[in-house]
Amino acid sequence: MSSEEKTWQISSSSVPPPPSSHFVGKRDDIIRRGRVTKLVNGCRDVLVVYHHGEFHAMDMRCYHAGGALELGDIEEFNGRVCIVCPWHKYKITLVEGEGLYQAVDNPTVKPLITHWRSKGVKQRVHKVTEVNEDIYVTLNDSRETIESDYYQTDTYRSNLRIQKVS
Ligand code: FES
Repeated sequence: MSSEEKTWQISSSSVPPPPSSHFVGKRDDIIRRGRVTKLVNGCRDVLVVYHHGEFHAMDMRCYHAGGALELGDIEEFNGRVCIVCPWHKYKITLVEGEGLYQAVDNPTVKPLITHWRSKGVKQRVHKVTEVNEDIYVTLNDSRETIESDYYQTDTYRSNLRIQKVS
């Protein structure tokens, strides 16, 4: 998926869902719940969020340490809508998956002067399409490694299972 491509679209009812997309739920059900998590295509745990008339999808576990993003609040920082990871409060833009942070100009000068900055894309986001009130996710198959990818690996999943058992 290129950075210019929109991640959310409504298709006309006469157009079939995009090839290689996966049904994740009924529109009204996701709106009512606000967010859902799904194992998409048997390989990727994805969080689908409804916010202010749009759907967004991203890897379910936070790129920092695997935090449960489905429990995160949605807030705006510097005009950009983010999900805030409940574990260590990292901010991730819903549209691009960028990690945002507040940089301090000069820590010795009080009061501190801060600016919002981007760490770049850290969380893999996926495309969401609505067709006939059904919601589909198309996985972002970009070959570029994104930090959240680690929390989708078999290695991570088996470590998680071991931790739950012990
Ligand atoms: S795991 Fe998400 S902020 Fe640390």
